[in-house]
Amino acid sequence: MGRNLPFLWFLSLNLLIFAVFSHGVHAWKTPFHPRDLLPLLPRQISWPLLNKLHSAVDLLPTFVGSASSPNDTLNWKGACFYETRAWMNFNNKSNSEFGGGTLHIKTSSAHSWTCMDIYIFATPYRVSWDYYFIARDHTFEFKEWEGKAEYEYVKNKGVSIFLMGSGMLGTLQALWDVYPLFSNTGWGESSNLAFLEKHMGASFEQRPQPWITNITVDDIHSGDFIALSKIRGRWGGFETLEKWVSGTYAGHSAVFLKDPEGKLYVGESGHENEEGEDIVVVMPWEEWWNYELTKDDANPHIAVLPLHPDIRAKFNETAAWEYARTMIGKPYGYHNLIFSWIDTVDGNYPPPLDANLFMIEEISFYYKKHING
Ligand SMILES: *[C@@H]1O[C@H](CO)[C@@H](O)[C@H](O)[C@H]1NC(C)=O
Ligand SMILES: *[C@@H]1O[C@H](CO)[C@@H](O)[C@H](O)[C@H]1NC(C)=O
Ligand SMILES: *[C@@H]1O[C@H](CO)[C@@H](O)[C@H](O)[C@H]1NC(C)=O
Ligand SMILES: *[C@@H]1O[C@H](CO)[C@@H](O)[C@H](O)[C@H]1NC(C)=O
Repeated sequence: MGRNLPFLWFLSLNLLIFAVFSHGVHAWKTPFHPRDLLPLLPRQISWPLLNKLHSAVDLLPTFVGSASSPNDTLNWKGACFYETRAWMNFNNKSNSEFGGGTLHIKTSSAHSWTCMDIYIFATPYRVSWDYYFIARDHTFEFKEWEGKAEYEYVKNKGVSIFLMGSGMLGTLQALWDVYPLFSNTGWGESSNLAFLEKHMGASFEQRPQPWITNITVDDIHSGDFIALSKIRGRWGGFETLEKWVSGTYAGHSAVFLKDPEGKLYVGESGHENEEGEDIVVVMPWEEWWNYELTKDDANPHIAVLPLHPDIRAKFNETAAWEYARTMIGKPYGYHNLIFSWIDTVDGNYPPPLDANLFMIEEISFYYKKHING
């Protein structure tokens, strides 16, 4: 990706991801429009932004619907093909546990001989795109669902389809450059590391084995802090961008709490529940650790930062538990997340962002979190 970071991919990608996740909670019937949500922000931020956004908005992808069944009831008017229908067939061409699927996009009634429509197809696990010049039944193959979660998601919610504004090929190519940040592969992981090296001057040296240290519950106390850095997959990509804008090397944090019997718990936000929502949880240490060891595909780096004894002496475990209990199950604290990124009104943004562009990014993140919660 060039130095002059084409900002729109950033924006469209985030909005896209936001829009994908948003289906999980609110079924979106109308195409998403950033202006619909801007008024939720404080006035002094949203009004100037509204003016700035005017041109960017035209380039945003429009959500046209999601395809999950073989019925071709989903139809819309494309920019080029005035009649477009979509449907989805599940198959098992890959002979894999969850199989794959074929998305059909049938285009007709082009308004000119030279026009085309560009689409983005997204699930929370992948983003793909294609473009169509010719009126016919086009197919787009999902060879193999990434796992049960993606399979269930597509069965229930469908593949989200976004129509791009015309002239978007350049943006898509730029988007393609950043997409590896979100890809759950060794390639995605190296892309994250390369991004952090390039934009933050971070260096990554492989530690000698063993890479996992056992800690004993006795060594840990309430209030001790856990800093996590995820470098792979969906969260890896988000964390990379968060690290960059916030200037930290951790993208997520959690806190230890012990109950009066000495049982250890971990409190964290952004824990994904079965509905795919990110909520605040307090979970037993063994369960949390087991997840990190065996299920977290983000290849997390986890560091424990014990409290200084003086501070620990002041840490009120009872009050901490009282507070934690009021937070369990609540949506992720997106307001804090976003506004903690801003140190000054118009300075201190990582180049090449400036305050305006940065706010757009913030806001797209805000949407995601807001709707997601
Ligand atoms: C498809 O359409 C038929 C007839 O309109 C209906 O009976 C069936 O339930 C639909 N299937 C799905 C998966 O929506
Ligand atoms: C696909 O085929 C494989 C092997 O034939 C089988 O094990 C698997 O359960 C099938 N998956 C689905 C979703 O039908
Ligand atoms: C951690 O503890 C488990 C269980 O006691 C043991 O099997 C494992 O080898 C230990 N790992 C390390 C790196 O010490
Ligand atoms: C700790 O918090 C509890 C509950 O808020 C409170 O009742 C107690 O007085 C606090 N203890 C100290 C030492 O401040």
